[in-house]
Amino acid sequence: MENSVTATARLVVDLDVTGATINRHVYGHFAEHLGRCIYDGFWVGEDSEIENVRGIRSDVVAALRALDIPNLRWPGGCFADEYHWRDGIGPRDERPRVVNSHWGDVVENNHFGTHEFMDLCELLGAEPYIAGNVGSGTVQEMSEWVEYLTRGDDSPMARLRRANGRDEPWKVPFWGLGNEPWGCGGTMSAEQYAYEARKYATFCREHSGNTLMRIAAGANEGDLQWTRALMEALDCVGCTMYGKPVYQAVSFHFYTHSGSGINTEDATAFTTEQYYDTLAYASEVDRILRGHIAVMDTYDPDGRIALVCDEWGTWWNVEEGTNPGFLFQQNTVRDALVAGIHFDAFHRHARRLQIANIAQTLNVLQAMILTDGDAMVLTPTYHVFEMNKGHQDAQSLPVHVLETPSTTARGAELPLVSSSASTKDGKALLSLTHLGAESDLDVSVDLRGRGARVARARVLTGDSTAAFNDVDTPEAVAPAPLEATLVDGILSLRLPPHSFATVELDVD
Ligand code: AHR
Repeated sequence: MENSVTATARLVVDLDVTGATINRHVYGHFAEHLGRCIYDGFWVGEDSEIENVRGIRSDVVAALRALDIPNLRWPGGCFADEYHWRDGIGPRDERPRVVNSHWGDVVENNHFGTHEFMDLCELLGAEPYIAGNVGSGTVQEMSEWVEYLTRGDDSPMARLRRANGRDEPWKVPFWGLGNEPWGCGGTMSAEQYAYEARKYATFCREHSGNTLMRIAAGANEGDLQWTRALMEALDCVGCTMYGKPVYQAVSFHFYTHSGSGINTEDATAFTTEQYYDTLAYASEVDRILRGHIAVMDTYDPDGRIALVCDEWGTWWNVEEGTNPGFLFQQNTVRDALVAGIHFDAFHRHARRLQIANIAQTLNVLQAMILTDGDAMVLTPTYHVFEMNKGHQDAQSLPVHVLETPSTTARGAELPLVSSSASTKDGKALLSLTHLGAESDLDVSVDLRGRGARVARARVLTGDSTAAFNDVDTPEAVAPAPLEATLVDGILSLRLPPHSFATVELDVD
């Protein structure tokens, strides 16, 4: 176990050895009709006293724009497989009310539908990722939704869209073929779903110059058999369309918790042992990525099929006094470190991983923003996304950890440093997550291959691993300047316990 004496870590970064480009879409987001994510989060309605643009909350949009959100997944999650898109178009007061059976069994008034979602994406500057309904919908229903959104001529669905006030078709690059079909999306076997995915994908047409990445709903965590079945199902007569495989991506979901499962621990009250257990669990994402990628490499050595992690993040007990079906949880320094660990793994696997979506953007699970009436709080996780945004579309760089303190968690050794780096446009960005709960960490990084100068260094931490922001103390966990020196190619800095840091470099 670590002690409170300052520990040391030594790293090497090869600034001149560029790897795969980190697709900006691994910084994607997820907004489900769940609890207060859409209603009371993004959507307050045009008549609200909270400042809004066409019903969409302005302060939330402004805060999220600062993250350069590349894509937003909607409408679920489990909700996607009981969502019928025609319920959410046309005059709002005429839209049917339905039951959201997965999330709190509440009545959904469908005021936020297709046009509102596309408007939100335009306000955010994000690309839409729509998850269609395989579980309880029909092939025709999904096919017509694609046509409604993306067709430019005088087709029946294009006419219907125009009748609802939108002349021009939208571009929709990402299309999900259901969600968690092994569970809430239909309780199917992998083989059964693979056939469904092929059939639904076939009828998701590319209209009017729109290109679709059709994403087959994938494995729970490290279920490699699921990925294998989806990859095998692509090997069939007629399994190509428009010269592409019938679906172009497979996904998986990975939630972080500690102990015996989700809903077993509070977001803000946990022991040091649970803290390390959580970070060890989060670190498993690297092993899980490697597993899925190894399977995909066997069937698709040329990398034509993308891997997508379209739900990730922490899952804690709901906050006391809130609806258990709404999944509302606080967000601490521990959550921020979980995010740092995930991004390092995403950057390392940039060759195959093309999209990732944190669950979820607002008021649900590991959120960026928590709203409370007209107030809004940025969470520690928000700050990791902001500090890390320079990795988007940058080329990954190898980081070698030569020396790091470690501890034991989940029965194995847990290194207390996680790191990744990238370069773009004459700059480099180094991210460092210090997992140690008690000691400072003296870090020295040998920057090899190119000359470099420190442009800015920042650190994110709080008084404890459980520190969080709320309306009374919105800046308890916020980025602060960090002292970093660079002499003869050696970058030196001291990280406080339980912290996340970024160093921005100008490189020759
Ligand atoms: O993000 C909450 C839920 O978690 C999603 O609806 C579902 O896909 C997953 O089980």
